[in-house]
Amino acid sequence: MGPIGIFDSGYGGLTVFKEIVKKLPQYDYIYLGDNARVPYGTRSFETVYEYTLQCVEQLFSLGSHMVVLACNTASAKALRSIQQNDLPNYTDLRKVLGVIRPTAEIVGSYSQSKQVGILATNGTVKSESYVLEIHKFFPEARVFQQACPIWVPLVESNEINNAGTEYFVEKSIKALLAQSGAIDTIILACTHYPILLPLIKKYTPPHIRIISQGPLVADSFADYLYRHPEVEELCSKNGNRKFYSTDDATNFEEKAAIFYGIPVSATQLKVDC
Ligand code: DGL
Repeated sequence: MGPIGIFDSGYGGLTVFKEIVKKLPQYDYIYLGDNARVPYGTRSFETVYEYTLQCVEQLFSLGSHMVVLACNTASAKALRSIQQNDLPNYTDLRKVLGVIRPTAEIVGSYSQSKQVGILATNGTVKSESYVLEIHKFFPEARVFQQACPIWVPLVESNEINNAGTEYFVEKSIKALLAQSGAIDTIILACTHYPILLPLIKKYTPPHIRIISQGPLVADSFADYLYRHPEVEELCSKNGNRKFYSTDDATNFEEKAAIFYGIPVSATQLKVDC
């Protein structure tokens, strides 16, 4: 038995982790943020795969059997390769899940017009993962994507409430809505973006529903554990949480509360660069 591992390129996954913990408080968890190498959204497929795999292996070596990639970019660019190429090399049960499928599964039921907007990193947009996954569940849906390349660095630097950030948020939302006047649902398809929600709402017409992934992923993960008792019984249940960052732990602690909601204490964990 071991803790459930939660991974993100930085702080963003904490917005998902917070919801998972709320839904499933009984389990032990370890969170790893690759703050030393964030952002992933601008990097190649190979690099995101290599970095994500290293971090997943770190979480495995800390005792996890089950890891959630609480990062859309890693889910888009690394999840499938890890599931297909790397997990079969383990002799015991190891599972890695992502955040795109649980979001895609549900979004068609939110949208009346069946026109859905995606705000995401460059990497997630280019991978077309959302378009493919949404069409699997809702073939009639039209999916419009907008990359917001500056948003993650702004959030990581805690530049959340200033005129510069507002400019970039308005610009990306306008660019998305210019692609179709019938979009009625927008997915914040990057785990960092819920932190910008007040600004995003300010520039989005009120009839458009904005979806943050945290609660959706938490519900879907709870359902997964219920349907897979062989995985669930490998997850220890003492209510412990540990936080690791590949960069300086004090820096991590200073900003993590913005994303997680309460102060945390962290440990630095170096991965090969
Ligand atoms: N939080 C990540 C996501 O959900 C990515 C941020 C980044 O590293 O670019 O896509």
